[in-house]
Amino acid sequence: MKTRITELFGIEHPIIQGGMHHVGLAELAAAVSNAGGLGIITGLTQRTPELLAREIARCRAMTDKPFGVNLTFLPSVNPPDYPGYVQAIIDGGVKIVETAGNNPQKWMPALKAAGIKVIHKCTSVRHALKAQSIGCDAISVDGFECGGHPGEDDVPNFILLPRAADELKIPFVASGGMADGRSLVAALALGAEGINMGTRFIATQEAPVHDNVKQAIVAASELDTRLVMRSLRNTERVLTNDAVERLIAKERALGAALTFEDILPEVAGVYPRIMQQGDMQAGAWSCGMVAGLINDVPTVEQLIHSIMAQAHALISARLAGMLQPTA
Ligand SMILES: Cc1cc2nc3c(=O)[nH]c(=O)nc-3n(C[C@H](O)[C@H](O)[C@H](O)COP(=O)(O)O)c2cc1C
Repeated sequence: MKTRITELFGIEHPIIQGGMHHVGLAELAAAVSNAGGLGIITGLTQRTPELLAREIARCRAMTDKPFGVNLTFLPSVNPPDYPGYVQAIIDGGVKIVETAGNNPQKWMPALKAAGIKVIHKCTSVRHALKAQSIGCDAISVDGFECGGHPGEDDVPNFILLPRAADELKIPFVASGGMADGRSLVAALALGAEGINMGTRFIATQEAPVHDNVKQAIVAASELDTRLVMRSLRNTERVLTNDAVERLIAKERALGAALTFEDILPEVAGVYPRIMQQGDMQAGAWSCGMVAGLINDVPTVEQLIHSIMAQAHALISARLAGMLQPTA
């Protein structure tokens, strides 16, 4: 399939694996790129720029296809060494960066000077327009359904994607709630040039996480995610578990008085315990409503192949078959 996104990134299929903390390691990124999609290493999961450089080298040893690095810009008292991470990306010869969180304007001159294409992930049309105006090459439009941080506007993709299509000149992919060929065809119909998936890629053979995480996604329905940290304006969609329900009880009890310190036990440093050790009650971890559509743990190659086969069949048989010949 050829779209503005496959052309922009030099990939075969318009399918991107979004950055995921403690999931987006070289194994997953390389598997996605080898299967013809765009794999993305999650920059900040590597504790230092040196470790990111090593992860980039590991990924390059596993694939000769294009892959990217995610840089998430979080508001923080002690910010990570962003200049160091950007330099590691440039020195590593990576040509695609997925930015997320705060506006990446400060880093655009360095990234552009190195010939890097930037896809910015955001949850509103106004942020997408801002990203377009500062020179981003593409947008990942992350709807309310998404796992992770859906923003504070709560606009689902059935509205957000056509709104983006009406306003943006640069190409965009649909992110949040994407699982299969039906998602891809719907996204294309709404104006996107491809899809970005997070949760679906965790439940694959190659995702370097504990099997308990994959089985939790398979077992979950579309009713099993919760929104947390809204009062901190840091809303996150997570899979429910004991820790998440405890966190929600604190939110209810404390209301507007809730501080980040109150919920540290449920959110701070929990990712390694969940993703590597498989302790599924350790804390809050991002997961999309799309879990309700995920019932298996295929290889990445099988997943991408089945998405493309289903999309082709939908377009050429189901949709084409609905058109009445004109008299
Ligand atoms: C476990 C997990 C961790 C994530 N970590 C990040 C991250 O560190 N940076 C980021 O930009 N997005 C992160 N995301 C968001 C994904 O890149 C993607 O935008 C989102 O999962 C899309 O929604 P979906 O899960 O419905 O496919 C994460 C998502 C999940 C499920």
